[in-house]
Amino acid sequence: MTSIELRKKFLNFFKDRNHTVVSSSSLVPNDSSVLLTTAGMQQFKPYYTGKVDPIRDFGSKSTVSIQKCFRTSDIEEVGDDTHLSFFEMFGNFSFGDYFKKEAIHYAYKFVVEELGIERNRIYVTIFAGDNSVSGDEESFKIWNEEIGLPKKQIKRRGRSDNWWGPTGSEGPCGPTTEIYVAKNLDDARLGNGLEIWNIVFNEYYQNKKGDFDKLEIPGIDTGMGLERLAVMTQGANNIFETDLFIPIIRQIKEVSNGLEPRIIRILADHIRSSIFLIADGVRPSNKETGYILRRFLRKVIVYGSKYDIHADLFPVVLERVAEIFGEIYPDLKNKEEILNVYYEEKGKFNKALSNGLKIFNDFVLRIKPENSIHKLQKILGIGRFQNIFHGKEAFSLYETYGLPKELIQEFCEEKGIVFDEKGFDEEYKKHQEVSRAGSEKKFGGHGLVLDTGELKAGSQEDSEKVIKLHTATHLLQQALRNVLGNDVKQMGSDINSERGRFDFSFNRKLTEEEIEKVEEEINEIINKDLPVYYKEMSIEEAKETGALYFFKEKYPNKVRVYFIGPKDGFPSTSSRPAELGEARPKGVAGRAYSVEFCGGPHVENTLKVGKFKIQKQESVGAGVRRIKFGVITA
Ligand code: ALA
Repeated sequence: MTSIELRKKFLNFFKDRNHTVVSSSSLVPNDSSVLLTTAGMQQFKPYYTGKVDPIRDFGSKSTVSIQKCFRTSDIEEVGDDTHLSFFEMFGNFSFGDYFKKEAIHYAYKFVVEELGIERNRIYVTIFAGDNSVSGDEESFKIWNEEIGLPKKQIKRRGRSDNWWGPTGSEGPCGPTTEIYVAKNLDDARLGNGLEIWNIVFNEYYQNKKGDFDKLEIPGIDTGMGLERLAVMTQGANNIFETDLFIPIIRQIKEVSNGLEPRIIRILADHIRSSIFLIADGVRPSNKETGYILRRFLRKVIVYGSKYDIHADLFPVVLERVAEIFGEIYPDLKNKEEILNVYYEEKGKFNKALSNGLKIFNDFVLRIKPENSIHKLQKILGIGRFQNIFHGKEAFSLYETYGLPKELIQEFCEEKGIVFDEKGFDEEYKKHQEVSRAGSEKKFGGHGLVLDTGELKAGSQEDSEKVIKLHTATHLLQQALRNVLGNDVKQMGSDINSERGRFDFSFNRKLTEEEIEKVEEEINEIINKDLPVYYKEMSIEEAKETGALYFFKEKYPNKVRVYFIGPKDGFPSTSSRPAELGEARPKGVAGRAYSVEFCGGPHVENTLKVGKFKIQKQESVGAGVRRIKFGVITA
């Protein structure tokens, strides 16, 4: 069964059972508790808590999806038979619709009847129970009495295996039952197989403190890795022998010379992952997701020279990835942009690498060789001789030449030098504090520290662009509300010197006319050259003005409210929540166009923004749209 057939089979199976098919959300989630999307349930979190109505958004309380996922926690394992950094997850979800019984029956039916995996090869695990939550006997009964799975093929396991929930953040959670596939009955009885499907019974909500609150309506969240499923159904020995990887592996083998299989797999995984990250808008940087991407790209480049691969792997693998996945994820067809990101990073890195290596090699030349006494001491286990690459020195390679920490670590390992990781981390922390203080100074204490609290721009030119886009973001939110209605709410935003990005609640694609209308309205306001200014007030006063605020943010007692409109004018009535009534009588001249909680900075008047243009709209999950926009200054 090809992976394309698997995709169809899975979606259709659940579609036939009243599930609405929802497309994958972006790898960059609209959920601040995680850096990248790690599971299918992530885009559905608000539906489990009853905050958002699934019927309104999907016409059903059950959904099915194939989600792009990325797990940094598995990076170390990549290269074995079953782990990847990027993978796709099949999942069916219920938000107060069906629960344990149906979920287990569906899963069994799909695995045995649709995929044709023999019952003798299957075993399942259930939650054994512990001090705080009792064992899941209900699931045991369903598996044993209703499905008829022999007791020997049902195993009880503890919290570390059969519990799913967020680590270090909040979210729905609960006990799980997992389906494993073994080679034969003996192996199944011994519990010797590969996990393919995790079925989570979301009965609790883990709050920020780590306590469990019972969810009012229990839900189902399941996850089944497509790649592992392909292993089962394609008679492959490992994920790299499935149709999701064969053309990629073959391509790497073709242009490289006798590489070790593990290295081929790591390259296949890292290049594929980087492509998907770039397609979802991640760009190399020294922070968060940007750093994950940078590490991957730089590792691929380093392997190129370390293993003497003469061809440039990235572009040829991109061709294969686009062939395999282009129909499913159309963003991958934008090969040129993806390649540009790669080449730019490669250029930066090659420069850094040759400079950094010089410094490192100088260090290597300076180190003391081990003498015969050191060697003897080592054999006797009493020696303390070590060459250490100290944190300060190592950090300067990172700071000045942009060599990732992991790479410096690898260089050290190769030369048998001890890498002073603790010292490196201390230097890193110190550096962060210094750069934070510096940015406050540069921007008068309220500089370019936008929603996420990070510095967004470096040069003066960059910061001016970011400030313009920041003001444009306020105009965009108001214009969207005026054109699409007041249901539009900010869900997130991100600005760099290239473009602005605004995520908002809205459950369909905008029409061409709507886009034009939004652009026209914004450019009209810009051309009126309205003043942009702020007033400081208490949070209550600020809310009274009807100012828009970002619900995810925690605000201090005193806040700044930014107005775009005539000075001392009145707040815009359209932005005021309906339940508060009109802030000012309608029709009062001189109303502000936009009123928002915000720390700034902004341009002083709208003409400075330049011409506003929407570049792209896309979906970033259920009921959330993303607009990317730019400004052109004459
Ligand atoms: N959310 C569950 C998982 O990722 C299904 O395993």
